[in-house]
Amino acid sequence: MNYKVTVIGAGRMGSALATVLFHKGFATTVWNRTGAKTEVLSRLGLSVARSVEESVREADIVVVSVSDYSSTRQLLRQPDIETALRGKIVVQLSSGTPKEAREMDSWARRCGISYLDGAILGSPEWIGTPACTIFYSGPAEVFNRAKPVLMVFGDRTLFVGHEIGHASAFDVAVLTFGISAMLGFLQGQFVWESENLPAGGFLETIKGMMPTMESVFTDMSRRVSSKNYSGDQASLEAYSVVTKHLVSWCQDRGSDHTIPDAYVNLMERAIQAGKSQADFACLFEILSDATSKPI
Ligand SMILES: NC(=O)c1ccc[n+]([C@@H]2O[C@H](COP(=O)([O-])OP(=O)(O)OC[C@H]3O[C@@H](n4cnc5c(N)ncnc54)[C@H](OP(=O)(O)O)[C@@H]3O)[C@@H](O)[C@H]2O)c1
Repeated sequence: MNYKVTVIGAGRMGSALATVLFHKGFATTVWNRTGAKTEVLSRLGLSVARSVEESVREADIVVVSVSDYSSTRQLLRQPDIETALRGKIVVQLSSGTPKEAREMDSWARRCGISYLDGAILGSPEWIGTPACTIFYSGPAEVFNRAKPVLMVFGDRTLFVGHEIGHASAFDVAVLTFGISAMLGFLQGQFVWESENLPAGGFLETIKGMMPTMESVFTDMSRRVSSKNYSGDQASLEAYSVVTKHLVSWCQDRGSDHTIPDAYVNLMERAIQAGKSQADFACLFEILSDATSKPI
């Protein structure tokens, strides 16, 4: 079936999604709060709607890509829009939390809308390429109906199950890792440059460590699943000492030490809880303890 697709939101991501749909031959309509952002899309040949209601009226599938769920709620939770969406498929591709996905799903059910929640792992330039991974959750039957459209966004279009919060849960988990690694890279690059180490050498050093890091993650994963934090290689106390060197380096330099401070804080809490001789992976217990507060 040649679906008519509407994309709500023509920011960086929404524009990329709409453009790929259009190039793949779908009748594509866009709406954006700030009209000027749709001019490029209009020149390409996409239809530009004057209102959200107009944009969804003829659509079979409505893809939402705005900043967050609260903006989505403002746009869609209006009686005329809810009526126009009844019986259609709404695919949420704005980032959010599993809780927000569940709330959106309850709203969609009440309105007779078929709802899929999605999470994009990639930047706009990856849309429509093999590099783009998108997770979807919701009813399998709705995913299968929407699949011909969703497949154009990326080769890795992955259905992660009917629990509506799971797509954003995947996203939160992967982003937690990715953002920490990106900030770690920037802080390390700053040390590298400040100490006049050879240009480009930090990236090469980090790349060379990747196989080792893979085995570190494998070991941590095994320890967390078995809850076995005993070890004879490096104690948490030893990690705490070297992590304090990171704080000292920043203090000597007069630079920001927010990141190493947070690491030290976590380790101190674990040490105070009697885990000084445990393996680094025991920090999982601190991260998952809702009663543990920063000191
Ligand atoms: N860019 C990425 O690399 C990337 C990757 C993965 C996921 N995402 C997710 O994709 C979503 C869109 O990101 P983006 O990069 O396209 O952001 P963006 O370029 O900043 O665009 C934000 C979009 O949201 C709209 N918007 C914000 N608040 C609104 C409101 N109250 N009512 C109506 N429209 C509103 C903006 O409209 P105006 O133009 O009128 O301001 C614009 O269309 C986000 O949830 C983001 O987390 C982005």
